[in-house]
Amino acid sequence: MVRITYVEADGRTQEVDAQPGWSLMEAAFHNGIEGIEAECGGACVCATCHIYMDERYLEKIKPMESGEDEMLDCAAAERKPNSRLSCQIEITDELEGAVVQIPETQI
Ligand code: FES
Repeated sequence: MVRITYVEADGRTQEVDAQPGWSLMEAAFHNGIEGIEAECGGACVCATCHIYMDERYLEKIKPMESGEDEMLDCAAAERKPNSRLSCQIEITDELEGAVVQIPETQI
């Protein structure tokens, strides 16, 4: 299992033990984390799973593909340099200790 910390928009912090192979979106869903809507279920067509990725780990995750890049332009909350779609980030052992910030709104 991989320890991931989610910081909800109101500042509440939750640590979860996530299954490698899941996406950050799936790990949030399975652990009752609030604030990631994921309306399309991970198909990369809704941008309601927007997160701000821990900058220390940006080099350890798969680079963004064009579809994710385009969808992030449609995200409801401000897009930042560390914005990603959580359904597109696979959990690996390298993400141990990562902190994921959830934006204030997804819709
Ligand atoms: S769940 Fe829809 S884009 Fe990630």
